[in-house]
Amino acid sequence: MAQFQINKTKYSSTQIVETQDQKDISLMSGEILLQIDRFAYTANNITYAVAGDLIGYWQFFPSIQDDQNRYGITPVWGFADVIKSAHKDISIGERLYGYFPTATHLKIHADHLSSFTLQDVSQHRQSLPSGYNLYHRVQADPAYNPEFDNHYMLLQPLHLTGWCLWDYSKMNNWFGAEQIVILSASSKTSIGTALSILHDKSSPKLIGITSDSNKTFVKKLDIYHDTLTYDEVHQIDASTRTLIIDMSGNIKVIDQLSDLLGTNLRHCIQVGLTHWEQAGRSPKTEHKEFFFAPGHIQQRIKEWGFKEFTIRSETSVSKTTQQASKHLEIEELQSLTGLQKIYSQIVEGSISPQKGLVVTM
Ligand SMILES: NC(=O)c1ccc[n+]([C@@H]2O[C@H](COP(=O)([O-])OP(=O)(O)OC[C@H]3O[C@@H](n4cnc5c(N)ncnc54)[C@H](OP(=O)(O)O)[C@@H]3O)[C@@H](O)[C@H]2O)c1
Repeated sequence: MAQFQINKTKYSSTQIVETQDQKDISLMSGEILLQIDRFAYTANNITYAVAGDLIGYWQFFPSIQDDQNRYGITPVWGFADVIKSAHKDISIGERLYGYFPTATHLKIHADHLSSFTLQDVSQHRQSLPSGYNLYHRVQADPAYNPEFDNHYMLLQPLHLTGWCLWDYSKMNNWFGAEQIVILSASSKTSIGTALSILHDKSSPKLIGITSDSNKTFVKKLDIYHDTLTYDEVHQIDASTRTLIIDMSGNIKVIDQLSDLLGTNLRHCIQVGLTHWEQAGRSPKTEHKEFFFAPGHIQQRIKEWGFKEFTIRSETSVSKTTQQASKHLEIEELQSLTGLQKIYSQIVEGSISPQKGLVVTM
C-alpha cells in the first residue's frame, strides 16, 4: 500500500510513502477496505493543495509517516473496488465512484446505505462538506458502463460545477450582464460552464480568455463568441455590462478587467485558482464573490430534493460531457510513480488542455 504526498508549503515537492501491507489491515464493524483502481488528475487537484488549509482539503485523507505534519494528500475523483468488508450489506467486488486519496487504498466507515449511494461516516470527515463523503454504488445503475470511467471521472465533477455556475448566474438574472467573460477558458471547468450556458437561449454572449499557447485549442472548441489571450484583454468591449467567471485567480488580469470595465463590471464569481502563482487580493474587486460548488449543490438539494436535483443536473451534465469528450485525449499514467513523473508539469501548467490525465493503479 502507498500514498502520494505533497509538501504543504512547496506544492512541487512530493514523495511516495509505502504503508503497511493490505493483509495486515483490520476492519471494525461497518468498515470496508477499497482498492483504488483509477483516478483523474487536473489543475483542480493542484487547487486542492493551494486551498488545503483554507477549505480543509488536507483533512480528508491524513498522511502517514509524517510526524512533523509537513505533507498532505489531495483528494481526487475516481473509482475503487471493495477488497475487504466488515459491513453486512457490502460485498467484496462492489465498485464505488467518489472522492479518494492519491493512494493505492482507502478504508472507510460505510453507513446510510441506499441502493445507489453510501456515506463515509469516519469521524475526521464529519465537519467537511457532506457531498464529498458520498460514494456512488455504480453497479446499481443499469446505465453504468466501465468503458466510460475515464471520461466520467475527468469531466463529471467539473461539468457539474459548470452546471451550478449556469444555474447560479441564471437565478441571479445574469447579474444584469450582457456578456460573460470566462478566465482560464481552456480548463475543463470553463468548458463545462460555457457549454451549460450555451444551451440556454436566454444567456448573454461568452468571451473566453486564455494563454497564447492555448488560444488555438480554445478557438477550435467553438463555444465562446470571442476568444482573447491574457495580453489581448484590452480588446474587450468595455461599454457592455459584464459578468466575470474566474477559474484563474489571476489578480493582475482581474484588476486590469476591473479598470477597463469600471461600473460595467456587474459581478465577478471567483471559482478557481489555475494561475495559483498569480493569485492574491485586491481592493479593486468589490463585486467579487467566492463560489463553492458543493455549497450550491447542497442548497439546491434542500430546495428540490436529491432525486430532482440529480435529474436536472445530470440531464445537462451528460450532454455537456459528451460534447467535451470529443476534444479530450486521454493519457493514462501507470501508478503513483507515473503521476510523480509528470506532476511538476501539472503544477506549472504546461500540460496541453486537450489532455485528460488518468492514473491507473
Ligand atoms: N469553486 C469550486 O467549487 C470549483 C469546482 C471545480 C473546479 N474549480 C476550479 O476550477 C479550476 C479549473 O480546474 P480544472 O480541473 O478544470 O483545470 P484544467 O482543465 O486542468 O485546466 C488546465 C488549464 O488551466 C490553466 N493552468 C493550469 N495550471 C496553470 C498554471 N500553473 N499556470 C497558468 N495556467 C495554468 C491553463 O489554462 P489557460 O491558459 O486557459 O489559463 C490550462 O490549460 C481549478 O482551480 C479548480 O479548483 C472550482
